[in-house]
Amino acid sequence: MNRSGYNSVNPLKPGVNPPLWLLAELTYRCPLQCPYCSNPLDFAQQEKELTTDQWIEVFRQARAMGSVQLGFSGGEPLVRKDLPELIRAARDLGFYTNLITSGIGLTHNKLDAFADAGLDHIQISFQASDETLNAALAGSKKAFQQKLEMAKAVKAHGYPMVLNFVLHRHNIDQIDKIIDLCIELEADDVELATCQFYGWAQLNREGLLPTREQIARAEGVVNDYRQRMSKSGNLTNLLFVTPDYYEERPKGCMGGWGAIFLSVTPEGTALPCHSARQLPVEFPSVLEQSLDDIWYNSFGFNRYRGYDWMPEPCRSCDEKEKDYGGCRCQAYMLTGNADNADPVCSKSPHHGKILEARREADCSDIKIGQLQFRNRSNSQLIYKSRNI
Ligand code: FES
Repeated sequence: MNRSGYNSVNPLKPGVNPPLWLLAELTYRCPLQCPYCSNPLDFAQQEKELTTDQWIEVFRQARAMGSVQLGFSGGEPLVRKDLPELIRAARDLGFYTNLITSGIGLTHNKLDAFADAGLDHIQISFQASDETLNAALAGSKKAFQQKLEMAKAVKAHGYPMVLNFVLHRHNIDQIDKIIDLCIELEADDVELATCQFYGWAQLNREGLLPTREQIARAEGVVNDYRQRMSKSGNLTNLLFVTPDYYEERPKGCMGGWGAIFLSVTPEGTALPCHSARQLPVEFPSVLEQSLDDIWYNSFGFNRYRGYDWMPEPCRSCDEKEKDYGGCRCQAYMLTGNADNADPVCSKSPHHGKILEARREADCSDIKIGQLQFRNRSNSQLIYKSRNI
């Protein structure tokens, strides 16, 4: 790694601010097999991981550029034995640190070690509000009880706790029970995030996308809970994220390409979003270039920055400064060309792809057992069959 490179590059690129948020995808290893995982389909081909020193050097460079928040993610970041060391290094550099975990592998001793290292915040993900459905979705029978125990332990350690539920057609109808569980566990914040279709979720889209009726009902339930909770003084915040497949305008993905977000994969590839590695764009490695050079000067990070790259209908659209033409990865997955407007937009000539997905959701009778689970053998099979 070029340890001095970031001093040799002029970072004053007009209109480009430093990456405020660094996501460290520490590993693709994970004990669970969720069929909606956003990890790449070929994750089993990526066995290399940055060493402790290499990660700390990435953190140091990012902090020197002005990054303030650091998320530890994966895969399951708890499988990295050096996690306390990484947390401590990040805190010493002045980052606000956030652990994004399934809770599997978490122990009271680890929580003590993380607290001692200065970890600021923990997000635990659940698959469902009951043991049977949770086991069917996670591919692990023990996961639910472990998550419950660790959620209680996280609160007992005094952490602000976010509980995250990825919603899809197999669990969205139990949203009231999910919220009851979150209240019981005294979550500070609850993310009820309907599945976004990247990686394994895109592969399983037909079996995961809820119907419009399911989403409308869930939204009604969330609103009822919000009203009741505000009257009773309950402080749990409920965030409900609907899938953009039922919108007419795209999301401003990542706050704009190369605008605020920088992700580093387990083996050191720097990406402007967690899914960009699938694009036919070359992205640099933190082992070969300084982060500063990558952020300001690399082809990959400049490819969709700003507005000059946009073809019609985005180029002349008066909403382009709000949505940046939507998501490049979604445009690529659905149209085969990442330059296109995100098909979620009703102005896109490819919007029919979204309408087709909605129709598929109305007719789908795919059961949980028929989904493609995110595990090494499936990853290898997909890699071989598609030659990705
Ligand atoms: Fe890659 Fe939206 S996820 S640009």
